[in-house]
Amino acid sequence: MANSINLLLMLKLVLTVLVVAFSPLCLCRKTNGGGYLYPQFYDRSCPRAQEIVNSIVAKAVAKEARMAASLIRLHFHDCFVKGCDASILLDSSGTLMSEKRSNPNRNSARGFEVIDQIKSALEKECPQTVSCADVLALAARDSTVLSGGPSWVVPLGRRDSKGASLSGSNNNIPAPNNTFQTILTKFKLQGLDIVDLVALSGSHTIGNARCTSFRQRLYNQSAGNDFTLDQYYASQLRTRCPRSGGDQNLLNLDYVSPANFDNSYFKNLLSFKGLLSSDQILVTKNQVSLDLVKKYAANNHLFFDQFAESMVKMANIFPLTGFSKGEIRKNCRKINVG
Ligand code: HEM
Repeated sequence: MANSINLLLMLKLVLTVLVVAFSPLCLCRKTNGGGYLYPQFYDRSCPRAQEIVNSIVAKAVAKEARMAASLIRLHFHDCFVKGCDASILLDSSGTLMSEKRSNPNRNSARGFEVIDQIKSALEKECPQTVSCADVLALAARDSTVLSGGPSWVVPLGRRDSKGASLSGSNNNIPAPNNTFQTILTKFKLQGLDIVDLVALSGSHTIGNARCTSFRQRLYNQSAGNDFTLDQYYASQLRTRCPRSGGDQNLLNLDYVSPANFDNSYFKNLLSFKGLLSSDQILVTKNQVSLDLVKKYAANNHLFFDQFAESMVKMANIFPLTGFSKGEIRKNCRKINVG
């Protein structure tokens, strides 16, 4: 009797997944990794999941506007290393070396406590159901909306990794002094293209960078020959970032509207006021990316639509799906025991 009930339940589950996956209304995505993600994933198992994520992100962003930027970046730095599997959230323990120690993340990645808060609220509501990787994807979407940016439907059903990759974090995430070609190659290795690169770089319309991420541009120029940085803007930046010291001083990535998610980032690039070298080279090194920057600077709607589309694409990088891969962590910082 119990066996046949189990069989019926299994059949029902398989049928639900099939109906959801093949319905023409489904926003399901076949991902780079092959599995399916779909927005209704928690509709039965944890109906309030999205509401819980949203309310905690909203509180955190109300307390500190920059947190929105930090949460978007966490999702990016997660997805570029072994896929969107919350590997970035694991702390070092035993032989596991945390990605938090990598060059792109050390003294820079932040927002971990907000993810902890969300996770513990979700564990109270529906234990071991909502993955940390999905929390990152939802928090990035909510952060964008709360800063004035576009919204999108987030396909769900990612599972959490049982490991991390410090070397992957060091190698896969683009550095601000990488060449245009290196950065594009790093995106292509993740299945993203030049359109995604330009649109997603637009998230530098909010948030901060430390002097150490762009100082080279202020003092490494041979007698002011670098036309890729507006000289008045450079002189202002030098007052905040001395030749030596002040490595951790923070500057706005978008000096015009640092807390508003809008297209002023692209306008800044066209007037040679991009903060990072990796920002400015979008207009100085490649005709296709220059044309895209001009398009987004001229039309905020186009930017928003492409940003939303590219975020969904990035969030689909090699997720762990299905019962056998990964796990649902109880605590985003640790692999489950036993
Ligand atoms: C294209 C290659 C990229 C490079 C080289 C790059 C590099 C950087 C650097 C160096 C910082 C400042 C870190 C610091 O000084 O502490 C930063 C901040 C940031 N990045 Fe990127 N990034 C890139 C693409 C992206 C993408 C694709 C996203 C999101 C989809 C993103 C989102 C952000 C955000 C929101 C911040 C501000 C974070 C905060 O204030 O806490 N970046 N990025």
